[in-house]
Amino acid sequence: MNFRTENRPVEPVQRFRRPADVFEALLQSIQGGETHARPTLDLVPGSPFLPFLEIGYALRTCLEKPVKHDYLLERLRPHLNVLIGTLPACIMPMGMLPKLAPLPGFRKLEDIADDEIRDWLIQEGGLIYGEMQRFELENYFDAVKPYLAPGGLMVDLGSGLGKVVMTAALTLPFTRCIGVELLNYRHRLAQERLVRLLTLARQGLEALPEPLTLETPLQLPSGVQANGRHLLDLGARIAFLENDMFKVDVRGASLVFLYSTCFGPLMDAISDKLARELSEGALVTTTTYPIKHPAFKLLEMHAPGTLSWTSVMIYQRVGPQMSVPASESRYLHQPDPDAWDARARAELLAMIGG
Ligand SMILES: C[S@@+](CC[C@H](N)C(=O)[O-])C[C@H]1O[C@@H](n2cnc3c(N)ncnc32)[C@H](O)[C@@H]1O
Repeated sequence: MNFRTENRPVEPVQRFRRPADVFEALLQSIQGGETHARPTLDLVPGSPFLPFLEIGYALRTCLEKPVKHDYLLERLRPHLNVLIGTLPACIMPMGMLPKLAPLPGFRKLEDIADDEIRDWLIQEGGLIYGEMQRFELENYFDAVKPYLAPGGLMVDLGSGLGKVVMTAALTLPFTRCIGVELLNYRHRLAQERLVRLLTLARQGLEALPEPLTLETPLQLPSGVQANGRHLLDLGARIAFLENDMFKVDVRGASLVFLYSTCFGPLMDAISDKLARELSEGALVTTTTYPIKHPAFKLLEMHAPGTLSWTSVMIYQRVGPQMSVPASESRYLHQPDPDAWDARARAELLAMIGG
């Protein structure tokens, strides 16, 4: 397959002369979410993020005190294979931890167990945000298209600002596209984006010289043939849920998308869940990290720099419903501890103005 290697030049849509103009305006409207301003997490009693904030504060306190740097590195060192980057982004000066003082009762790092730090790092890594560029998503939907029958349910686990879900709903004839996002503010931004998308769709459709009916033949951006219902029912075909992906049942999905580049340590748990819930034939795609579970057969593997900047894997659920755990083989990255130590010290020094 000939994949695109960059975005086409953007030509703003001036007039809605045909449905293709509506599609183009809609796709243009959902780009650029990766640069959104990250608010800090809510530090209020009852927030589901309090346990996360407590450990974040404990780590940040050590980061801010040079005499504690050795201790901070000592506590992080056993978990390098689940640490993304050199130091956790969340505790850095521009990170998502609030600047406010810790709540009374928050523990110090000395009172926090190794397992808690490890789980915290896994959650922290998963909260990092990124989006595929438009041409990468075009490549992606071209690659999965041959394996999908018209209709079906598409799910993005960790859907962020909703770009993949909305692109899926525009590009292929899914009956329904659903995004599941843990962070409230990202879920809210996705919903706001959806409202703007649907408003623009309505304006575009109203401006067409020939009104679209439910039965009007319609060519989708992927080249697949559908009918007017695809755009007229757009709002009913898209939904966003604010939830933990592990609490949402994806039974019935025909395609599960995972931008799993930051989910490395979660891949075993995710594949167990998907093996339990998905039916034979369902597709699952991952980025960067493979699925190593006997219930999934690798259909395609696209090396970094072909379909996307990172590797993209397409799997199919094979065999009966099962709860077999993922294979024992570990495939987390194993950074060199000495090289990490040197990088971490250089970052800490730079941060305190050394
Ligand atoms: C790399 S972003 C990808 C966003 C989107 N899928 C895309 O490709 O444009 C991963 C998203 O997963 C979310 N996330 C992390 N852990 C999650 C969980 N347990 N349940 C739901 N969402 C989660 C993060 O908050 C983040 O928005």
